[in-house]
Amino acid sequence: MSRFSTFVNFFVTVFKIEMTYILGIETSCDETAAAVMYNGHLLSNVIATQKVHEQYGGVVPELASRAHQQNIVPVVAQALSIANISKYQVNAVAFTQGPGLLGSLLVGSSFAKAFALAYNIPLIAVNHMEAHVHAHFIEEPKPEFPFICLTVSGGHTEILLMKDYFDKELLGTTLDDAVGEAFDKAAKILGLPYPGGPMIDKLSKTGNPLKYKFPVSQVDGLNFSFSGIKTSILYFVRDNLKTYANFIQDNIADLCASIQHTLVKMLTDKLLVAVNKTGVNRVAIAGGVSANTYLRDTLQQMSKIHGWEIFIPKFEYCTDNAAMIAMSGYLKYRTGQFSSQEVVAQPSI
Ligand SMILES: Nc1ncnc2c1ncn2[C@@H]1O[C@H](COP(=O)(O)OP(=O)(O)OP(=O)(O)O)[C@@H](O)[C@H]1O
Ligand SMILES: [Mg+2]
Repeated sequence: MSRFSTFVNFFVTVFKIEMTYILGIETSCDETAAAVMYNGHLLSNVIATQKVHEQYGGVVPELASRAHQQNIVPVVAQALSIANISKYQVNAVAFTQGPGLLGSLLVGSSFAKAFALAYNIPLIAVNHMEAHVHAHFIEEPKPEFPFICLTVSGGHTEILLMKDYFDKELLGTTLDDAVGEAFDKAAKILGLPYPGGPMIDKLSKTGNPLKYKFPVSQVDGLNFSFSGIKTSILYFVRDNLKTYANFIQDNIADLCASIQHTLVKMLTDKLLVAVNKTGVNRVAIAGGVSANTYLRDTLQQMSKIHGWEIFIPKFEYCTDNAAMIAMSGYLKYRTGQFSSQEVVAQPSI
């Protein structure tokens, strides 16, 4: 530890000044990310997106963990450098414990454990899905509790009633595929590159969302099912291709817009039911699919119609990032929720 750090630490201890630097590390899937937060204020947020998976049309777990191993040290070094602090100034290290790919999680968790051990600082295990929701507390406006959060990503589709930072009630979830998966699979059927969600969003801009109708499976209550729509898109496209070879190319914008409209309607219909059922009209969206512009626009319209107070995260906090891990870590740090060195990565928590 440098003399300066010793001096600063002395004052911090004696005068009980809150000076907390949290290093957040995210390696749950195919983004190697690190961020630094100072007393809840974000100082840096670095992401290395792994391009290697594009040629395979999806994430290859083996390649993802190898890429994390190559990226983790430079990404953390860059996050510390942008935050203008040294590794000795970090007060706690937060990492994604799960859910995610085991090989990917092991790289981040092993790095964080070693970092905590080397610098004798607390280790904080973060739940990736909780962190997607905590992304709302990185910047103003921050939602007050209770609020409803529609968490929509590559592996999850949930409607949560958030009563406090770590007190949540699961109101509904998917019975099969996640909505992000439905976006990606639909894109694959249309021959679009991975990841398909952003491509469908982009191509939809000039399309007619009401041109094609896809039957959707009706699920009672606040749960979802996305496996049926995937099959109906597959059969619809296949049937049309039999008589019209350029069907996809000639109608790509309308196809994307119609698929997107159907998926977003499935989400927002249930969101409306959740608000009516709970009487909570503070509504947030989180996770990778919350970057979808049609979902964001639809939520804006619903807020006007129904008088909701809505919370839409910045694009960079929607898909996987380490700022949300550092945020969640900071919230745990304040309440002393630390982990021991025995903590292990958990692919499904
Ligand atoms: N603009 C967009 N429109 C629709 N879907 C999108 C958009 N941007 C990203 N997605 C989708 O979001 C998903 C990725 O989100 P995220 O990174 O949060 O998922 P994940 O981390 O793989 O899964 P989980 O968070 O459930 O573990 C992908 O399915 C991707 O297609
Ligand atoms: Mg995610």
